[in-house]
Amino acid sequence: MLDSPSRVVVTGAAGFIGSHLCERLLADGHQVAGVDSLSDYYERERKYENLEVARAHANFTLEESDMVETDLARVVRGASVVFHLAGQPGVRPSWGSHFDRYVHDNIVATQRLLEALREVPVQRLVFASSSSVYGNAEMFPTKETALPRPVSPYGMTKLAAEHLAFVYMRNFGIPATSIRYFTVYGPRQRPDMAFHRFMEALVDEQEIEIYGDGEQTREFTYVSDAVDGTVKAASADVVGQIVNLGGGSRVTVNRVLDTLEDISRMKPRRRYLPAAPGDPRHTGASINVAREKLEWEPRVSLRDGLTKQWEWFLATSAKRPRVTPT
Ligand code: NAD
Ligand code: UGA
Repeated sequence: MLDSPSRVVVTGAAGFIGSHLCERLLADGHQVAGVDSLSDYYERERKYENLEVARAHANFTLEESDMVETDLARVVRGASVVFHLAGQPGVRPSWGSHFDRYVHDNIVATQRLLEALREVPVQRLVFASSSSVYGNAEMFPTKETALPRPVSPYGMTKLAAEHLAFVYMRNFGIPATSIRYFTVYGPRQRPDMAFHRFMEALVDEQEIEIYGDGEQTREFTYVSDAVDGTVKAASADVVGQIVNLGGGSRVTVNRVLDTLEDISRMKPRRRYLPAAPGDPRHTGASINVAREKLEWEPRVSLRDGLTKQWEWFLATSAKRPRVTPT
């Protein structure tokens, strides 16, 4: 499907993962139509910067609009694949009045896209779902068949969107695949995410804030691995299926900090705070489906990936004013 140059749509193109995906698709020779509302969850300037490479490419266009408001049938016309990464991410801020944003960007935006795809068929819709749909899983590594029981409002909205895609598939034949990313990291990582915050605290000589005892584990996934799995999911025989994309091993937050100390040769002070509501204690992916169906394998080790993110952070952070994400 993506074997020959095609026109593809990437929603959430200006975001962390979306911008890397655009670059990969452009490098593969595709015409990429990006859609992004440039939401203010974190600074818009960062999102423009994320797209610096893509925007310089003749085969890239960006539509700056909210998916709920715009005519998506027009946007997807002529596309073979839609990669739907737009959404309101962030597990911990999804409580209280912020929830409305999660419903709007994760559920309503997805429903509008699915309605457009009824009108304008495509060969594949790849939806960016999340390990947060599992909540506190009963088994590790967690298979796609595990009963999803989110513990955050965010996770619930991602699960709702995933179900919506399959509802439209069953009724209208929309060829949907859902990929579940596990805590993605690397250059351009969102400023609210752990590694980015840790690095910021390091260079600012502030305490590193850890939610809970730091013995929670995550299956951290390097961004180029996540992107590679996403591209493969567009062509593989996985319509109607869910595919975990996990980095290959579970690591505690404390161990990440040990590795970061080693890489940066800096010794951060650690401050342990209460665990955050909505955070699962552990995540861990069974990646056998991705191995078998996508012929995908994570390639970047945590140490190598963390080194790349640290180098990127040092190269870009000096230029930036400090803004605390909301
Ligand atoms: P991000 O915030 O950097 O990117 C998401 C982009 O979507 C943003 O640029 C935002 O402006 C855009 N957007 C939001 N609502 C929109 C709307 N209504 N219309 C148009 N654009 C809109 O986040 P990210 O970390 O790159 O995550 C990308 C996707 O992957 C999200 O759907 C997220 O839920 C999912 N995901 C991310 C991770 C991770 O570790 N980063 C893990 C699991 C799943
Ligand atoms: C990440 C993304 O932010 C979500 O959008 C995504 O859906 C989710 O992965 C997923 O895999 O589905 P999270 O795992 O919370 O969510 O990612 P980080 O912000 O990098 O946090 C990793 C761990 O570090 C968590 O246990 C968190 O509690 C902890 N943490 C985070 C801290 O101890 N201190 C911080 O300052 C930030």
